Amino acid sequence: MAFQPKQITHYQAEHLAELQGGVSETSIKYCLDLIPAISEGAVIHDNACGSGAVTETIMSMNPSNIHIDATDINPEFVKGCAAVADKNGWPVTAAVMSAQQLTFPDDHFTHSITSFAFHCIGDQNAAAKHIYRTLKPGGTAVATVWIFMPHVEALQHAHWRTRGKDAPMPVLLPLEHYDEGDLRTALQAGGFKNENITCSNKECYLTVPDLKRWAQLAWSYLGNVPGGWTQNDEDKWDEALEDIVEQLTSGDGISKNEKGETLLKMVACVAVAKK
Ligand SMILES: C[S@@+](CC[C@H](N)C(=O)[O-])C[C@H]1O[C@@H](n2cnc3c(N)ncnc32)[C@H](O)[C@@H]1O
Repeated sequence: MAFQPKQITHYQAEHLAELQGGVSETSIKYCLDLIPAISEGAVIHDNACGSGAVTETIMSMNPSNIHIDATDINPEFVKGCAAVADKNGWPVTAAVMSAQQLTFPDDHFTHSITSFAFHCIGDQNAAAKHIYRTLKPGGTAVATVWIFMPHVEALQHAHWRTRGKDAPMPVLLPLEHYDEGDLRTALQAGGFKNENITCSNKECYLTVPDLKRWAQLAWSYLGNVPGGWTQNDEDKWDEALEDIVEQLTSGDGISKNEKGETLLKMVACVAVAKK
C-alpha cells in the first residue's frame, strides 16, 4: 500500500460531510429553486454524490414517489450514502460508478445533478457526455462548481511551506481558477446547446467551529500530491496544519460570527442545462 502519514484522517463519508459543513446544501437549495419542481415520478441522478448532500437536501423536502440514484467513484462515500438512505427508508440506490462510465440507459433521468465535482472528476467532457446521454429529452441537468474558496490559497501556502516551491501542486488545489466558461465548455462538449445553459452565482458561507480540526480534515483530503504522500509530509504534518490555521485567521472572504466561529465565503457557479 502507498505510504500515508500516520496523522492522516482515513476518509469516510462523514468526514467529507464535516469538511463541507452544510455549505453544499445552501447551494443545492438554491439550485432546486431554479429548476422545475421535483414532482411525482421524478428519476434523479446524484452524480459524484460524495456524502450525499444532494440526496439529503432533496429528501428533506419530503417528495413523494421519486427515485434517486446516488453514485460516486469512492466506495467509502457510497457506503455512507447507502447507510443514511437505508436508515431513513429513502428511495435511493447507491452505487460505485465513475462519472465517465455511467451504466444507466439512455434518456433515463428527469434530473441529473452534479454538485461540486466538475473541477475534480478528471475527464469532464466524457462526464458531460454521460450526463447528456442519460438525461431524458426535456430533462434538466444541474452542474455546480466553486469559483471562489478562500481555503485554497491557505492550503497552497502550507504546501509550499512544507514541500518547497518546486513541489507539484496537489490535484485538488489547482492554481488556475475554474470558471463559468469552463463549465459551459464541458457541458457543450457533452451535447448541451449553449442557448439551453443558464449560469448564475450564489454566495454561500461555510461555518468552521474549530479551525485546527478543519485543517486536519482539509489537509488529509486535499493535500495529497500527484506522486503520493511522503515521510516529509508526516514529519511536517503539524507545521502544515499550523500554517493552514494561521492563513485562515484573516483574509479575503474570511470573517468570524458572533460565536467566534470562522466563516469562509464561498461562491458557487450554478449551471442549469436543458436537453
Ligand atoms: C467535492 S465532492 C462533492 C460531493 C457532493 N456532490 C456534494 O456536493 O457535497 C466531489 C466528489 O466527486 C467524486 N469523484 C471524483 N472523481 C469522480 C469520478 N471520476 N466519478 C465519480 N465521482 C468522482 C469524489 O469522490 C467526491 O465525492
